[in-house]
Amino acid sequence: MCGIIGIVGKSSAQPSIIEALEKLEYRGYDSSGIATVSDNSIIRRRAVGKLSSLKELLNKKPIKGEIGIGHTRWATHGAPSLENAHPHKVGKVALVHNGIIENFHELRSQLISEGQTFVSDTDTEVIASFCSKLLESGMSPDEAVVNTLNNLEGAFALCFIFEDYDNILIAARKGSPLVVGWGSGEMFVGSDAIALASLTNQLTYVGEANYVVLSNNEAKFFDFQKKEITPEKVFINSESVLISKNGYRHFMHKEINEQPSVISYALGSYTGSDRKKITLPSQLPNFSEMDRITMTACGTAFFACNVAKYWFEKISELPVDIDIASEYRYREPIFSKSTGAIVVSQSGETADTLAALRFAKNKAMQTVAVVNSENSTMAREADIIMPIRAGVEVGVASTKAFTCQLVALASLVLDAARQRKKISSSEEEEFIEHLFTLPRLINEVLLKENEIINICSELAKAQDILFIARGSLYPLALEGALKLKEISYIHAEGYAAGELKHGPIALIDNRVPVICFAPSNILYEKTVSNIHEVIARGGKVLLVSDRKGLKDFSGDVWASFEMPECDSFISPILYALPAQLLAYYSAIEKGTDVDQPRNLAKSVTVE
Ligand code: F6R
Repeated sequence: MCGIIGIVGKSSAQPSIIEALEKLEYRGYDSSGIATVSDNSIIRRRAVGKLSSLKELLNKKPIKGEIGIGHTRWATHGAPSLENAHPHKVGKVALVHNGIIENFHELRSQLISEGQTFVSDTDTEVIASFCSKLLESGMSPDEAVVNTLNNLEGAFALCFIFEDYDNILIAARKGSPLVVGWGSGEMFVGSDAIALASLTNQLTYVGEANYVVLSNNEAKFFDFQKKEITPEKVFINSESVLISKNGYRHFMHKEINEQPSVISYALGSYTGSDRKKITLPSQLPNFSEMDRITMTACGTAFFACNVAKYWFEKISELPVDIDIASEYRYREPIFSKSTGAIVVSQSGETADTLAALRFAKNKAMQTVAVVNSENSTMAREADIIMPIRAGVEVGVASTKAFTCQLVALASLVLDAARQRKKISSSEEEEFIEHLFTLPRLINEVLLKENEIINICSELAKAQDILFIARGSLYPLALEGALKLKEISYIHAEGYAAGELKHGPIALIDNRVPVICFAPSNILYEKTVSNIHEVIARGGKVLLVSDRKGLKDFSGDVWASFEMPECDSFISPILYALPAQLLAYYSAIEKGTDVDQPRNLAKSVTVE
């Protein structure tokens, strides 16, 4: 969601804060701001819109100060406006916040009754006001912050600076991620390792419900009862988190094109040199003793779970329940001691998925986190990590993380099937061979981008688009629709092809394109019947199938796209490519902001 950064430096903080905010812009871009302490006063600059507006402002009016905080906002309380932009300053304290304060109405009313006034609609200003009141009562910054933290309910990562102190920055977290970076004569704190990658490679992840007091040569960590703790330092390979577009116009396009290489890399790491057997991280889930699996995630990651359900049930004969993470813990799910829990998340920080993981842990289920960010909260809290190894994903619309999630889940499925004695070693080897054909097949699709561009010049004129498919391709219809609506803003829905006639077919006319993923598999004929139902009602069909599927189809489709032939085990992974490219080139056609679509943020750390 929002991105926060704090620096206690040895030279002007402004350039480093801006550099870190550039890395954090993927977390929100409704407004941004920076504040520093200089000559015993707090100076602020804030701007509405993308970070470029703040940079323009700072070019005209730079700020001095070696200690400072910065923020890029994804609006929760209050519209994107200058008043609501962070940092918020009240009296002698300024702060930036990522998260949501649930008891902010009560706190705000209490403060108003005590005579405080507010200039913004945010929950963050309430924190600043509360802390300022305590400072005025004579408390030290440390005492005022701890007291404030203990009065907050909800999720937060916070960074505070104080007017009369040019060598103290206090940061705290509960529920939202926060990491401290160790420099030489300077210290940093930020929402994630990406923000700090160009500043340092020595990090300490701040623990849940902990705060840290930073000066320019040390960091002291405490829990909210002021007990000092000593968390470990980790060293990261900064290059692995440094990011650039490498000549591509958009991160999303770069990430789509990276799929052959990241999938190859991930598969190599799951199979060892002989490629005959899945060899997962040292500690494996004990699938043989599980009676079922419950899988939770949000958005695109949830669709990956949908595909995995087909695989787990068919190949490993293990029943799977799938839940949208924000719903899971509220529906009182039934499970036993032998139920395993898998959460899937690119960021490893999505608040709802994290809450689902904690719910499963509390119920003593064995938990597996299928994550991209190996230092994320989910990775640290789950019993077992299954890293998807997609590399940093910056585009808000998830692409390579989705296909890598599928590859990781497919590998877990094969491991489960072997443990449960549902496949022989030669069958396992055959499945692995199919997975290894993916990089080549994906490259073949990528070579046909021009055809997709032509299709999108027409497709992007539509106001509504339907995606249909059957079986393990059905989640791809859902994913295709999500991807299209989030970056091109064209309304789209995904349906199981057989479900159209139960309602959605009423939408069909010649202005509603229907995109059908129909590889030539055992469900092909049935899907073709559904396509004919659409055509008979004047619908305009884009048929995405392989050579055999296109050849066998008799009827008038509006357009077709030929996919390479592949085994049906891997088709849900391969068909992610046309879903992604159709969305990408429709967005280009419409001239939208592909990497930073409106109203969205990459990492959703609020519930
Ligand atoms: C869509 C998209 C989102 C994420 C969802 C979960 O393209 O990226 O739907 O999949 O917000 O995020 P993670 O995977 O970080 O938990």
